[in-house]
Amino acid sequence: MTLTRRRFLTASGAGLCALAAPTLARARAMPVLQAGPSSAQIAPLPYPVTPVWAYGPEGVRGTIPGPEIRVRAGDRVRRRLSNGLSQPTAVHWHGIRIDNAMDGAAGLTQDAVEPGDVFDYDFVAPDAGTYWYHSHNRSWEQVARGLAGPLIVEEAEPWAGLEGAATREVTCVLDDWRLVADGAIHEESFGALHDAAHGGRLGNTVTLNGASETALPVRAGERLRLRLINAATARVMPLRIDGHAATVIARDGFATAPQAVDQVVLAPAQRADIVIDCTGAPGSRASILLDAGRGEWVPIASLAYSGEAPLPAVEAPVRPLPDPAWREPDLGSAQREELLMEGGAMGGLSGAMLDGTRLDARALAEKGKVWAFNGIAGGMHTRLFRIARDRTMHLTLRNDTAWPHGIHLHGHHFQVLSRDGVAEPGRVLHDTVLAAPREVVEIAFVADNPGKWMIHCHMLDHQASGMMGWFEVA
Ligand code: C2O
Ligand code: CU
Repeated sequence: MTLTRRRFLTASGAGLCALAAPTLARARAMPVLQAGPSSAQIAPLPYPVTPVWAYGPEGVRGTIPGPEIRVRAGDRVRRRLSNGLSQPTAVHWHGIRIDNAMDGAAGLTQDAVEPGDVFDYDFVAPDAGTYWYHSHNRSWEQVARGLAGPLIVEEAEPWAGLEGAATREVTCVLDDWRLVADGAIHEESFGALHDAAHGGRLGNTVTLNGASETALPVRAGERLRLRLINAATARVMPLRIDGHAATVIARDGFATAPQAVDQVVLAPAQRADIVIDCTGAPGSRASILLDAGRGEWVPIASLAYSGEAPLPAVEAPVRPLPDPAWREPDLGSAQREELLMEGGAMGGLSGAMLDGTRLDARALAEKGKVWAFNGIAGGMHTRLFRIARDRTMHLTLRNDTAWPHGIHLHGHHFQVLSRDGVAEPGRVLHDTVLAAPREVVEIAFVADNPGKWMIHCHMLDHQASGMMGWFEVA
Protein backbone atom coordinates (compact mmCIF):
# COMPACT_ATOMS: atom_id res chain seq x y z
CA MET A 1 0.00 0.00 0.00
CA THR A 2 1.37 3.40 -0.84
CA LEU A 3 1.27 6.07 1.80
CA THR A 4 -0.29 9.23 0.43
CA ARG A 5 1.43 12.42 1.44
CA ARG A 6 -1.55 13.46 3.53
CA ARG A 7 -1.65 10.17 5.40
CA PHE A 8 2.08 10.26 5.90
CA LEU A 9 1.88 13.68 7.47
CA THR A 10 -0.99 12.59 9.68
CA ALA A 11 0.83 9.48 10.75
CA SER A 12 4.08 11.20 11.59
CA GLY A 13 2.21 13.99 13.34
CA ALA A 14 0.41 11.48 15.53
CA GLY A 15 3.67 9.77 16.31
CA LEU A 16 5.25 12.99 17.42
CA CYS A 17 2.30 13.82 19.63
CA ALA A 18 2.46 10.48 21.35
CA LEU A 19 6.19 10.43 21.84
CA ALA A 20 7.27 13.97 22.35
CA ALA A 21 4.37 16.32 22.83
CA PRO A 22 6.29 18.96 24.84
CA THR A 23 8.98 19.31 22.19
CA LEU A 24 6.67 19.34 19.20
CA ALA A 25 7.67 22.87 18.27
CA ARG A 26 11.32 21.96 18.33
CA ALA A 27 10.69 18.77 16.40
CA ARG A 28 9.58 20.82 13.40
CA ALA A 29 12.79 21.06 11.43
CA MET A 30 14.62 24.28 12.18
CA PRO A 31 16.22 25.61 9.00
CA VAL A 32 19.91 26.14 9.55
CA LEU A 33 21.74 29.39 9.00
CA GLN A 34 25.37 28.48 8.96
CA ALA A 35 28.11 31.05 9.48
CA GLY A 36 31.43 29.97 8.06
CA PRO A 37 34.32 30.74 5.76
CA SER A 38 33.56 31.06 2.06
CA SER A 39 34.72 33.05 -0.93
CA ALA A 40 33.09 35.49 -3.31
CA GLN A 41 33.90 37.47 -6.42
CA ILE A 42 33.76 40.86 -4.70
CA ALA A 43 36.21 42.81 -6.86
CA PRO A 44 35.60 42.84 -10.61
CA LEU A 45 37.37 40.28 -12.78
CA PRO A 46 40.27 39.70 -13.35
CA TYR A 47 40.79 40.22 -9.61
CA PRO A 48 40.78 36.91 -7.73
CA VAL A 49 37.98 35.89 -5.39
CA THR A 50 37.92 37.27 -1.87
CA PRO A 51 38.00 34.95 1.15
CA VAL A 52 34.97 35.99 3.25
CA TRP A 53 32.86 34.85 6.16
CA ALA A 54 29.31 34.25 5.04
CA TYR A 55 25.90 32.81 5.86
CA GLY A 56 24.44 29.87 4.00
CA PRO A 57 22.14 26.91 4.50
CA GLU A 58 23.46 23.85 6.29
CA GLY A 59 26.43 22.24 4.59
CA VAL A 60 26.50 24.80 1.78
CA ARG A 61 29.16 27.48 1.47
CA GLY A 62 27.74 30.85 2.36
CA THR A 63 27.01 33.64 -0.09
CA ILE A 64 27.50 37.40 -0.14
CA PRO A 65 25.00 38.69 0.82
CA GLY A 66 23.58 35.89 2.95
CA PRO A 67 20.46 34.07 1.74
CA GLU A 68 17.34 36.24 1.61
CA ILE A 69 14.91 35.33 4.37
CA ARG A 70 11.36 36.18 3.32
CA VAL A 71 8.24 35.91 5.44
CA ARG A 72 4.88 37.64 5.67
CA ALA A 73 4.07 40.13 8.45
CA GLY A 74 2.99 38.22 11.55
CA ASP A 75 4.83 35.06 10.53
CA ARG A 76 7.57 33.43 12.54
CA VAL A 77 11.19 33.45 11.49
CA ARG A 78 12.95 30.29 12.64
CA ARG A 79 16.64 29.72 12.07
CA ARG A 80 19.23 27.61 13.83
CA LEU A 81 22.48 29.54 13.80
CA SER A 82 25.30 27.05 13.39
CA ASN A 83 28.69 28.55 14.08
CA GLY A 84 31.31 27.30 11.64
CA LEU A 85 33.62 30.23 12.37
CA SER A 86 36.78 30.34 14.44
CA GLN A 87 35.20 33.02 16.69
CA PRO A 88 32.04 33.19 18.80
CA THR A 89 29.13 34.86 16.98
CA ALA A 90 25.45 35.81 17.23
CA VAL A 91 22.79 37.03 14.79
CA HIS A 92 20.89 40.29 15.22
CA TRP A 93 17.67 40.78 13.25
CA HIS A 94 18.07 44.45 12.57
CA GLY A 95 14.95 46.58 12.84
CA ILE A 96 12.54 43.84 13.86
CA ARG A 97 10.44 44.74 16.90
CA ILE A 98 11.49 41.43 18.31
CA ASP A 99 11.14 39.37 21.48
CA ASN A 100 14.13 40.53 23.57
CA ALA A 101 15.54 37.02 24.05
CA MET A 102 15.85 36.66 20.25
CA ASP A 103 17.60 39.99 19.63
CA GLY A 104 21.05 38.47 19.20
CA ALA A 105 22.89 41.18 21.11
CA ALA A 106 25.79 39.10 22.39
CA GLY A 107 26.69 40.06 25.94
CA LEU A 108 23.26 41.54 26.67
CA THR A 109 20.45 39.28 25.45
CA GLN A 110 22.46 36.09 24.97
CA ASP A 111 25.95 34.71 25.23
CA ALA A 112 27.84 34.58 21.96
CA VAL A 113 27.64 31.16 20.32
CA GLU A 114 30.95 29.32 20.50
CA PRO A 115 32.54 27.77 17.40
CA GLY A 116 30.80 24.48 16.68
CA ASP A 117 27.72 25.41 18.74
CA VAL A 118 24.20 26.33 17.67
CA PHE A 119 21.53 28.78 18.82
CA ASP A 120 17.87 28.63 17.85
CA TYR A 121 16.23 31.89 16.83
CA ASP A 122 12.45 31.72 16.72
CA PHE A 123 10.46 34.96 16.67
CA VAL A 124 7.52 36.77 15.10
CA ALA A 125 8.23 39.45 12.50
CA PRO A 126 5.34 41.78 13.30
CA ASP A 127 5.85 44.56 10.75
CA ALA A 128 6.09 44.43 6.98
CA GLY A 129 9.21 45.97 5.53
CA THR A 130 12.83 45.71 4.47
CA TYR A 131 15.14 44.48 7.22
CA TRP A 132 18.43 42.68 7.45
CA TYR A 133 20.32 40.34 9.69
CA HIS A 134 23.96 40.51 10.64
CA SER A 135 26.52 39.33 13.15
CA HIS A 136 26.33 41.05 16.52
CA ASN A 137 29.58 39.86 18.04
CA ARG A 138 32.83 41.56 17.04
CA SER A 139 30.56 43.00 14.39
CA TRP A 140 33.15 45.55 13.26
CA GLU A 141 35.10 42.54 12.00
CA GLN A 142 32.43 39.92 11.34
CA VAL A 143 30.07 42.18 9.35
CA ALA A 144 33.05 43.58 7.43
CA ARG A 145 34.02 40.02 6.51
CA GLY A 146 30.55 39.44 5.06
CA LEU A 147 28.17 38.19 7.76
CA ALA A 148 25.01 40.00 6.67
CA GLY A 149 21.91 39.20 4.65
CA PRO A 150 18.45 40.60 3.77
CA LEU A 151 15.31 39.86 5.77
CA ILE A 152 12.18 40.80 3.86
CA VAL A 153 8.79 40.92 5.57
CA GLU A 154 6.02 41.12 3.00
CA GLU A 155 2.79 43.01 3.58
CA ALA A 156 0.08 40.85 5.14
CA GLU A 157 -2.19 41.80 2.20
CA PRO A 158 -0.11 41.93 -0.99
CA TRP A 159 0.64 45.48 -2.13
CA ALA A 160 2.16 44.51 -5.46
CA GLY A 161 -0.49 44.19 -8.13
CA LEU A 162 -2.66 47.00 -6.75
CA GLU A 163 -3.14 50.12 -8.83
CA GLY A 164 -0.08 52.35 -8.67
CA ALA A 165 2.03 49.71 -6.95
CA ALA A 166 5.28 48.34 -8.31
CA THR A 167 5.10 45.59 -10.93
CA ARG A 168 8.22 43.90 -9.55
CA GLU A 169 10.64 44.26 -6.66
CA VAL A 170 14.37 43.81 -6.31
CA THR A 171 16.38 43.54 -3.10
CA CYS A 172 19.62 45.54 -3.29
CA VAL A 173 22.18 44.94 -0.54
CA LEU A 174 24.87 47.59 -0.73
CA ASP A 175 28.22 47.03 0.89
CA ASP A 176 31.70 48.48 1.10
CA TRP A 177 34.89 46.41 1.26
CA ARG A 178 38.49 47.29 1.99
CA LEU A 179 40.42 44.98 -0.31
CA VAL A 180 44.09 44.61 -1.12
CA ALA A 181 45.53 43.90 -4.56
CA ASP A 182 45.17 40.10 -4.39
CA GLY A 183 41.45 40.50 -3.64
CA ALA A 184 41.80 39.68 0.06
CA ILE A 185 40.17 41.71 2.82
CA HIS A 186 42.57 44.16 4.42
CA GLU A 187 42.80 42.56 7.85
CA GLU A 188 45.45 44.75 9.45
CA SER A 189 42.93 47.58 9.69
CA PHE A 190 40.45 45.63 11.80
CA GLY A 191 40.32 47.48 15.07
CA ALA A 192 42.62 50.28 13.88
CA LEU A 193 42.08 53.22 16.19
CA HIS A 194 42.84 55.83 13.55
CA ASP A 195 39.88 54.73 11.43
CA ALA A 196 37.72 54.38 14.52
CA ALA A 197 38.46 57.94 15.61
CA HIS A 198 37.49 59.26 12.16
CA GLY A 199 34.68 58.11 9.88
CA GLY A 200 35.23 54.41 10.56
CA ARG A 201 36.94 51.78 8.43
CA LEU A 202 35.85 52.84 4.96
CA GLY A 203 36.39 50.50 2.05
CA ASN A 204 37.61 50.90 -1.51
CA THR A 205 35.11 48.61 -3.29
CA VAL A 206 31.36 49.20 -3.19
CA THR A 207 29.14 46.27 -4.14
CA LEU A 208 25.49 45.68 -4.92
CA ASN A 209 24.34 42.18 -4.02
CA GLY A 210 27.89 41.06 -3.39
CA ALA A 211 29.52 42.06 -6.67
CA SER A 212 31.11 45.06 -8.32
CA GLU A 213 29.43 46.55 -11.38
CA THR A 214 26.27 44.49 -10.89
CA ALA A 215 23.82 44.91 -13.78
CA LEU A 216 20.20 44.57 -12.65
CA PRO A 217 18.11 43.32 -15.58
CA VAL A 218 15.02 45.47 -16.15
CA ARG A 219 12.46 45.92 -18.87
CA ALA A 220 11.23 49.26 -20.17
CA GLY A 221 7.86 50.20 -18.68
CA GLU A 222 8.29 48.31 -15.42
CA ARG A 223 7.61 50.05 -12.14
CA LEU A 224 10.19 48.72 -9.70
CA ARG A 225 10.31 48.66 -5.94
CA LEU A 226 13.96 48.63 -4.94
CA ARG A 227 14.59 47.50 -1.39
CA LEU A 228 17.88 49.25 -0.62
CA ILE A 229 19.89 48.06 2.37
CA ASN A 230 23.17 49.64 3.47
CA ALA A 231 25.13 46.75 4.99
CA ALA A 232 28.41 48.69 5.11
CA THR A 233 30.16 49.04 8.45
CA ALA A 234 31.06 52.70 8.00
CA ARG A 235 30.16 54.24 4.65
CA VAL A 236 27.23 56.66 4.42
CA MET A 237 25.77 56.16 0.95
CA PRO A 238 24.07 58.96 -0.99
CA LEU A 239 22.54 57.20 -4.02
CA ARG A 240 20.72 58.07 -7.21
CA ILE A 241 19.95 56.43 -10.53
CA ASP A 242 21.01 58.32 -13.61
CA GLY A 243 17.99 59.64 -15.50
CA HIS A 244 15.44 58.04 -13.19
CA ALA A 245 13.23 59.77 -10.65
CA ALA A 246 12.85 57.97 -7.34
CA THR A 247 9.96 57.97 -4.88
CA VAL A 248 10.65 56.83 -1.32
CA ILE A 249 7.81 54.72 0.10
CA ALA A 250 9.46 53.31 3.23
CA ARG A 251 12.39 54.10 5.48
CA ASP A 252 13.97 51.48 7.71
CA GLY A 253 11.13 49.19 6.67
CA PHE A 254 8.27 51.42 7.81
CA ALA A 255 5.92 52.96 5.26
CA THR A 256 6.09 56.68 4.73
CA ALA A 257 3.98 58.96 2.53
CA PRO A 258 5.42 58.64 -1.01
CA GLN A 259 8.07 61.30 -1.43
CA ALA A 260 9.86 62.17 -4.67
CA VAL A 261 13.59 62.61 -4.05
CA ASP A 262 16.71 63.50 -6.05
CA GLN A 263 18.84 61.15 -4.00
CA VAL A 264 18.53 58.75 -1.09
CA VAL A 265 21.06 58.93 1.72
CA LEU A 266 21.57 55.70 3.63
CA ALA A 267 23.63 55.60 6.79
CA PRO A 268 25.09 52.20 7.67
CA ALA A 269 22.19 49.85 8.58
CA GLN A 270 19.52 52.13 7.11
CA ARG A 271 17.12 50.93 4.46
CA ALA A 272 14.89 52.71 1.99
CA ASP A 273 12.25 51.29 -0.32
CA ILE A 274 12.10 53.35 -3.47
CA VAL A 275 9.88 53.12 -6.52
CA ILE A 276 11.26 53.92 -9.95
CA ASP A 277 9.60 53.89 -13.33
CA CYS A 278 11.81 52.25 -15.94
CA THR A 279 11.61 55.02 -18.50
CA GLY A 280 14.85 54.11 -20.29
CA ALA A 281 14.95 52.79 -23.85
CA PRO A 282 15.12 49.04 -24.56
CA GLY A 283 18.76 47.97 -24.72
CA SER A 284 20.03 51.00 -22.78
CA ARG A 285 21.86 51.17 -19.46
CA ALA A 286 21.46 53.54 -16.54
CA SER A 287 24.11 53.88 -13.85
CA ILE A 288 23.36 53.56 -10.16
CA LEU A 289 25.51 56.33 -8.72
CA LEU A 290 27.11 56.79 -5.33
CA ASP A 291 28.42 60.04 -3.97
CA ALA A 292 31.90 58.87 -3.02
CA GLY A 293 32.60 62.18 -1.25
CA ARG A 294 32.86 65.81 -2.22
CA GLY A 295 29.92 65.41 -4.59
CA GLU A 296 31.80 63.04 -6.88
CA TRP A 297 29.15 60.64 -8.19
CA VAL A 298 30.61 57.31 -9.26
CA PRO A 299 28.81 54.40 -10.92
CA ILE A 300 28.62 51.33 -8.69
CA ALA A 301 26.06 49.26 -10.60
CA SER A 302 23.51 49.71 -13.36
CA LEU A 303 20.04 49.00 -14.64
CA ALA A 304 20.44 46.92 -17.81
CA TYR A 305 17.41 47.26 -20.07
CA SER A 306 16.48 44.22 -22.09
CA GLY A 307 15.81 44.64 -25.79
CA GLU A 308 12.15 43.69 -25.33
CA ALA A 309 9.43 46.10 -26.34
CA PRO A 310 8.36 48.37 -23.46
CA LEU A 311 5.55 47.26 -21.18
CA PRO A 312 2.71 49.78 -20.91
CA ALA A 313 3.91 52.42 -18.43
CA VAL A 314 2.14 52.60 -15.07
CA GLU A 315 0.34 55.95 -15.13
CA ALA A 316 -1.22 55.95 -11.67
CA PRO A 317 0.63 57.85 -8.92
CA VAL A 318 2.81 55.70 -6.68
CA ARG A 319 0.58 53.83 -4.30
CA PRO A 320 1.51 54.22 -0.63
CA LEU A 321 2.26 51.10 1.37
CA PRO A 322 -0.25 50.23 4.08
CA ASP A 323 0.23 52.24 7.27
CA PRO A 324 2.46 50.57 9.83
CA ALA A 325 1.00 49.67 13.22
CA TRP A 326 2.44 52.68 14.97
CA ARG A 327 1.62 53.92 18.44
CA GLU A 328 1.71 57.68 18.59
CA PRO A 329 4.17 58.87 21.22
CA ASP A 330 2.51 60.80 24.06
CA LEU A 331 4.92 63.69 24.33
CA GLY A 332 3.08 65.33 27.22
CA SER A 333 3.88 62.51 29.62
CA ALA A 334 7.17 61.47 28.07
CA GLN A 335 10.32 60.59 29.96
CA ARG A 336 13.00 62.93 28.68
CA GLU A 337 16.55 61.72 28.24
CA GLU A 338 19.58 62.88 26.35
CA LEU A 339 22.27 60.94 24.54
CA LEU A 340 25.40 63.05 24.35
CA MET A 341 27.94 61.89 21.77
CA GLU A 342 31.50 62.95 22.43
CA GLY A 343 34.99 62.15 21.22
CA GLY A 344 36.73 61.22 18.00
CA ALA A 345 39.31 63.12 16.03
CA MET A 346 38.96 66.89 16.53
CA GLY A 347 36.61 66.09 19.38
CA GLY A 348 38.62 66.99 22.45
CA LEU A 349 37.31 64.23 24.71
CA SER A 350 38.77 64.98 28.15
CA GLY A 351 37.94 61.58 29.60
CA ALA A 352 35.13 59.14 30.27
CA MET A 353 34.07 56.24 32.45
CA LEU A 354 35.22 52.80 31.35
CA ASP A 355 33.90 49.79 33.25
CA GLY A 356 33.22 51.96 36.26
CA THR A 357 36.52 53.86 36.32
CA ARG A 358 37.15 57.36 35.06
CA LEU A 359 40.04 57.51 32.59
CA ASP A 360 41.59 60.40 30.71
CA ALA A 361 41.65 60.44 26.92
CA ARG A 362 45.12 58.92 26.65
CA ALA A 363 44.28 56.02 28.98
CA LEU A 364 41.02 55.47 27.10
CA ALA A 365 42.82 55.35 23.75
CA GLU A 366 45.22 52.78 25.14
CA LYS A 367 42.17 50.63 25.81
CA GLY A 368 40.81 51.24 22.31
CA LYS A 369 38.16 53.79 23.32
CA VAL A 370 37.86 57.15 21.62
CA TRP A 371 34.13 57.92 21.93
CA ALA A 372 31.61 58.26 24.73
CA PHE A 373 27.85 58.30 25.28
CA ASN A 374 26.88 60.43 28.28
CA GLY A 375 30.44 60.33 29.58
CA ILE A 376 30.67 56.54 29.37
CA ALA A 377 32.98 54.84 26.88
CA GLY A 378 31.19 51.82 25.48
CA GLY A 379 30.55 48.47 27.03
CA MET A 380 27.74 46.78 28.87
CA HIS A 381 28.81 47.97 32.31
CA THR A 382 26.37 50.81 32.77
CA ARG A 383 22.71 51.11 31.86
CA LEU A 384 22.07 54.44 30.16
CA PHE A 385 18.41 54.70 31.16
CA ARG A 386 15.39 52.80 32.28
CA ILE A 387 11.80 53.47 31.28
CA ALA A 388 8.49 52.01 32.38
CA ARG A 389 6.84 49.84 29.78
CA ASP A 390 4.36 51.69 27.53
CA ARG A 391 5.67 55.12 28.52
CA THR A 392 6.86 57.48 25.79
CA MET A 393 10.58 58.14 25.60
CA HIS A 394 11.61 61.56 24.31
CA LEU A 395 15.29 61.25 23.50
CA THR A 396 17.57 64.06 22.42
CA LEU A 397 20.53 62.82 20.39
CA ARG A 398 23.23 65.48 20.75
CA ASN A 399 26.13 64.96 18.38
CA ASP A 400 28.91 66.97 19.95
CA THR A 401 31.53 65.56 17.57
CA ALA A 402 33.02 66.41 14.19
CA TRP A 403 31.66 63.21 12.59
CA PRO A 404 28.29 61.86 11.49
CA HIS A 405 26.83 58.97 13.48
CA GLY A 406 24.07 56.53 12.60
CA ILE A 407 22.40 55.89 15.95
CA HIS A 408 20.48 52.62 16.20
CA LEU A 409 18.02 51.55 18.88
CA HIS A 410 17.24 47.90 19.25
CA GLY A 411 13.70 46.59 19.64
CA HIS A 412 11.88 49.79 18.70
CA HIS A 413 11.22 52.13 15.85
CA PHE A 414 11.09 55.81 16.65
CA GLN A 415 9.78 59.00 15.14
CA VAL A 416 12.21 61.75 14.21
CA LEU A 417 10.68 64.89 15.72
CA SER A 418 13.20 67.56 14.84
CA ARG A 419 16.70 68.37 13.69
CA ASP A 420 18.46 71.36 15.22
CA GLY A 421 15.09 72.52 16.50
CA VAL A 422 13.38 72.40 13.11
CA ALA A 423 10.40 70.05 13.07
CA GLU A 424 10.84 67.10 10.73
CA PRO A 425 8.18 67.37 8.02
CA GLY A 426 5.77 64.45 7.90
CA ARG A 427 5.98 61.34 10.01
CA VAL A 428 9.36 59.71 9.49
CA LEU A 429 10.00 56.47 11.38
CA HIS A 430 13.42 54.90 11.76
CA ASP A 431 15.38 52.35 13.72
CA THR A 432 18.66 54.07 12.77
CA VAL A 433 19.02 57.80 12.35
CA LEU A 434 21.93 59.77 10.96
CA ALA A 435 23.04 62.67 13.14
CA ALA A 436 25.31 65.09 11.26
CA PRO A 437 28.33 66.67 13.00
CA ARG A 438 27.14 69.02 15.79
CA GLU A 439 23.51 68.20 14.99
CA VAL A 440 20.82 67.73 17.62
CA VAL A 441 18.12 65.22 16.66
CA GLU A 442 15.03 64.71 18.80
CA ILE A 443 13.28 61.37 18.59
CA ALA A 444 10.34 59.78 20.41
CA PHE A 445 8.77 56.36 20.74
CA VAL A 446 6.48 54.38 23.00
CA ALA A 447 8.73 51.99 24.92
CA ASP A 448 6.38 49.06 24.53
CA ASN A 449 8.87 46.25 24.06
CA PRO A 450 10.16 44.97 27.41
CA GLY A 451 13.78 44.00 27.89
CA LYS A 452 17.33 45.24 27.74
CA TRP A 453 18.05 46.92 24.44
CA MET A 454 21.25 48.15 22.92
CA ILE A 455 21.68 51.64 21.58
CA HIS A 456 24.79 52.25 19.54
CA CYS A 457 26.36 53.92 16.58
CA HIS A 458 26.08 51.68 13.51
CA MET A 459 29.43 52.84 12.26
CA LEU A 460 30.66 49.62 13.76
CA ASP A 461 34.16 50.87 14.53
CA HIS A 462 32.58 53.71 16.50
CA GLN A 463 30.44 51.19 18.35
CA ALA A 464 33.51 49.12 19.25
CA SER A 465 35.47 52.16 20.39
CA GLY A 466 32.92 53.63 22.76
CA MET A 467 29.58 54.51 21.12
CA MET A 468 27.57 51.74 22.69
CA GLY A 469 25.26 51.36 25.63
CA TRP A 470 21.92 49.92 26.60
CA PHE A 471 18.58 50.89 28.08
CA GLU A 472 15.91 48.92 29.79
CA VAL A 473 12.15 48.80 29.30
CA ALA A 474 10.52 47.25 32.36
CU1 C2O B 1 22.26 46.40 13.21
CU2 C2O B 1 23.04 46.56 17.20
O1 C2O B 1 22.69 46.43 15.17
CU1 CU C 1 29.45 56.87 14.99
